[in-house]
Amino acid sequence: MDDVVIQTNALTKTYESGSNSVHALRGIDLTVHRGEFIAVMGTSGSGKSTLMNVLGCLDTPTSGNYLLDGVHIETLDKNQLAAIRNEKIGFVFQGFNLLARTSALENVELPLLYDRSGRKRDTKAMAIAALGRVGLGDRLNHQPSELSGGQQQRVAIARALVTEPALVLADEPTGNLDSRTSIEVMALFQALNEQGITVVLVTHEPDVAVYAKRIVEVRDGRIRRDAPVKNRHNAAEDLAAAELLPDDDLVAGPSAADAAAGGGASTEKAAAVSSGERSVA
Ligand SMILES: Nc1ncnc2c1ncn2[C@@H]1O[C@H](COP(=O)(O)OP(=O)(O)OP(=O)(O)O)[C@@H](O)[C@H]1O
Ligand SMILES: [Mg+2]
Repeated sequence: MDDVVIQTNALTKTYESGSNSVHALRGIDLTVHRGEFIAVMGTSGSGKSTLMNVLGCLDTPTSGNYLLDGVHIETLDKNQLAAIRNEKIGFVFQGFNLLARTSALENVELPLLYDRSGRKRDTKAMAIAALGRVGLGDRLNHQPSELSGGQQQRVAIARALVTEPALVLADEPTGNLDSRTSIEVMALFQALNEQGITVVLVTHEPDVAVYAKRIVEVRDGRIRRDAPVKNRHNAAEDLAAAELLPDDDLVAGPSAADAAAGGGASTEKAAAVSSGERSVA
């Protein structure tokens, strides 16, 4: 089935440290279809990051099978894994992981420069388009230190998107952000997901998980619960309802003056979060 992005079968990961074995994953069977939006939850040490690292081809499983977008990952060597990772996956991390003293534009362009497929493309134009998609078209030349935390994370999301990956993996993307900025980032993930991007993110926070479509709960290296989100929240609506309006740079759309004008404009603005980027897609 070609709409399956991730299919794992009895995936395990054991870390050997000295005489100790840590069974971080003890048999994960997970199927993710294109267009899904999954929150992976679980207590500290339950295996979430290990699972993300294996799904992201940053680490190899000890046993089991992993089919990523039609490719049998367990058969690949290191170089092939790196190539697949670059082609199929975009990563977003808790700490943004942007290069300091490097512009937003250059940070986003970087994965394209690592692309070994030899395709000649206008990498600068692609990076500009990706930054436009996350509402940062007017911050191209800002360095990370000149951007807010939420803006830095949006640069990181643009960097994850620029290669047009089959899958975006995010490990605690809102972990370093205040609650309002977290909702703004989740509004962006929801908008991107609406455009068809498959998202798997790790979060500790139930308040963040309600924006996903499905919650996968990991405990002791196993999936203990896997269910659709009941009463799923719309992040743009939550921002509008609480009048916690995003800054005018959240999306290219109505100006800050509209937002200041009151409720009607607020709703319109929030709607832009979920629909605005679509035209640029
Ligand atoms: N490189 C490693 N070497 C040895 N053990 C490891 C390594 N990485 C993780 N572990 C162990 O594997 C288990 C799962 O760790 P993991 O980082 O996946 O947890 P997590 O669910 O992401 O936790 P957190 O919520 O704290 O980020 C833990 O017991 C951890 O100590
Ligand atoms: Mg972790």
